[in-house]
Amino acid sequence: MSQENSIKLYKCRGKVAELENYCFDKDISGKTGIAHTRWATHGEPNDQNAHPHLSEDGQLALIHNGIIENYVILKKELMNRGYIFKSDTDTEVLVHLIQDIYIHGECSLATAVRQALKEVEGTYALAILSADNPSELIVAKKGSPLLIGIGKDEYFIASDGAPIVKYTKKVVYLEDGDVATIHPDKPIAITNINNEVRHPYTEKLEITLEQLEKGGFPHYMLKEIYEQPRAVLDSMRGRINTVKDVVSLGGILEYESKMMQAKRFIIAACGTSWHAGLVGKYLFESLVRLPVEVEYASEFRYRNPIITEEDVLIVISQSGETADTLAALELAKGKGATVIGICNVVGSTLARNTHAGSYTHAGPEIGVASTKAFTTQVTVLALMALSLSRKKGSISSSYYHQLINDLESIPDKISKVLLQNDKIAEIAKFFLDKRNAIYLGRGVNYPVALEGALKLKEISYIHAEGYPAAEMKHGPIALIDEEMPTVVIATQQETYGKIASNIQEVRARKGKIISIVSEGDVNVKAMSDFFIEVPHTEELLVPLVSSVPLQLLAYHVAVQRGCDVDKPRNLAKSVSVE
Ligand code: F6R
Repeated sequence: MSQENSIKLYKCRGKVAELENYCFDKDISGKTGIAHTRWATHGEPNDQNAHPHLSEDGQLALIHNGIIENYVILKKELMNRGYIFKSDTDTEVLVHLIQDIYIHGECSLATAVRQALKEVEGTYALAILSADNPSELIVAKKGSPLLIGIGKDEYFIASDGAPIVKYTKKVVYLEDGDVATIHPDKPIAITNINNEVRHPYTEKLEITLEQLEKGGFPHYMLKEIYEQPRAVLDSMRGRINTVKDVVSLGGILEYESKMMQAKRFIIAACGTSWHAGLVGKYLFESLVRLPVEVEYASEFRYRNPIITEEDVLIVISQSGETADTLAALELAKGKGATVIGICNVVGSTLARNTHAGSYTHAGPEIGVASTKAFTTQVTVLALMALSLSRKKGSISSSYYHQLINDLESIPDKISKVLLQNDKIAEIAKFFLDKRNAIYLGRGVNYPVALEGALKLKEISYIHAEGYPAAEMKHGPIALIDEEMPTVVIATQQETYGKIASNIQEVRARKGKIISIVSEGDVNVKAMSDFFIEVPHTEELLVPLVSSVPLQLLAYHVAVQRGCDVDKPRNLAKSVSVE
């Protein structure tokens, strides 16, 4: 906080609410303020490592999202010049480096920032203010998201639109390499680090305040689980013709012939979006009859993958800001591949840097655990596969119509699953004292098993693993005993009989079975300690319904264990560091 030529610094470890409490009786008045929720990369989360970091003379304060990769060398040089470091962070080098130039170069702060950044390797979205010019803020971006909101006689900076939409919908997205000077009485001035001017382009945020509220739900996660019928409908809106015979995605139309001629598709994503990508593999291979590889974006980038101009890379990301996914995008683009995006956040880096793509239109997802992102990503993947397969002639018209009809019925089917919320909350009690769980599924339900396990572990801190059901006998079965809950997704599909045998194998070892079955199921239900029914759904689309009870299960287990569901420990909503 900067006022009257001095900087007041308030920072502490923990959640934003703790900082609010800490500042309750402090003087936080001032002209310009910067704040940052740090996700620890270098140095443990403690008061000292929290941002902002001050220059030695206390005249500069800086916040930073990203990683300074050459910070060890820079730190050594700065220490040789006499700078004393107070934190274990990589960020602190930035403020000393800028101060060093600012003092010695007799230049403006923006010039000092530009010059300092020439020496920096890594990623950053940073903001810096100086006590001697408290109305001015310098911000810079490379590899981490940053936008400037334009208010009346005021500006806001943020990583995305959600925190500032309350104040303004007019925004300027910074591009990589931008350094911007912000002053309430002046227009935004943007240059690159070589001081070449770039004219800011103003865009409109497409989110509403209402979308950012909990809407009467105790947690965002539960709200977002319940939003899925609407979110999936919005993903399909205007994309399925009312006479029900054409699926068309405007965003990729221009690239569809290129996609159909592709030698293969590569899907790159992280976490839940990667699980959606695995479902996409089943959809594209079955319907479009094209080979698909699904890659963890983080691994893809670093193994020198073979990519040609005949490949299509589909990148999937809710936030559109996941650093690993963006790196995969750039790599494939650089090698001439066509890059298609599936993304929720309008205006995000991914949406702006792909050749073409489709938004999921899920609305803002605030709960750290992805829920509606998954179902809407799968919906868009299904629409893409349908559109391409129809044009390619790789699908029969009867199957095409059958899938479209089923897709249209998904929102109602999800609503039916949600009616079982109370029953699922009861089943959750069984997990409360458990330390491990196994999730099993086959075919399209294998990614659902992975996703169910991820949901449980990330919000309830119970260790959980997803496995293809038949793989269990190759190792994981050794873990089964009466203490191990086994969640089996056994909707009626081709492998139903086989999965029933896997359940018997678990039961024979005293394992407890929690099954997800199709309505009217008899066999698996009879073998289960607990069961949850989901409506009958075309096999390829079943993840859209079978994933929902697993989201609710994880939610209730976490709530009953007293966990902070919306902000699980160690996790950030958008992973903008590699
Ligand atoms: C899990 C979860 C994460 C994200 C992952 C990718 O519930 O939310 O695994 O799915 O960090 O994020 P996006 O989709 O924003 O690229």
